[in-house]
Amino acid sequence: MSKKVFVLFVCLGNICRSPTAHGVFRNMVREAGLEDVIEVDSAGTAAFHIGKSPDSRSVQVAKERGIDMTDLRARQVDLGDFYQYDYVLAMDEANFSNLKDVALPEHYERIELFLEYSQDFSETEVPDPYYGGAKGFDHVFDLVESASQGLLQSIKKVHLS
Ligand code: 4NP
Repeated sequence: MSKKVFVLFVCLGNICRSPTAHGVFRNMVREAGLEDVIEVDSAGTAAFHIGKSPDSRSVQVAKERGIDMTDLRARQVDLGDFYQYDYVLAMDEANFSNLKDVALPEHYERIELFLEYSQDFSETEVPDPYYGGAKGFDHVFDLVESASQGLLQSIKKVHLS
């Protein structure tokens, strides 16, 4: 078997956007029978929520769409992640910039904006839903689902064909 592919989703707190991406993409990987080939994790650039469960609003939206993410716990990204993860996918430009502050220049090519993989949305950032209403969490899910589909297609093409 070819080398495993490691994917890390990153937002600010690791309690809303990146755990949603983690849960959605993990499910797609399982459904594609690729769980032995693609490893998925998520992390935050900030330390505020280390050890916490995902935000209950994210959990609820995901549950309504058939995704269980209640097992996930927040952690903070660190330099070691750039040695392990092939894809370090930032939810927004601030996360992207903060990731570059943690990484070494040789790792920069691993860091991308996650929404570059969406074929359905022209937005480039997954907006932070934390201080907004319920609609924001639905929109996060839609964006994440779309980019996850594109990401899986791309990984299959680049690594598994
Ligand atoms: P996330 O959302 O980065 O998608 O997990 C946030 C969670 C917490 C905070 C901000 C954004 N906060 O300020 O505590």
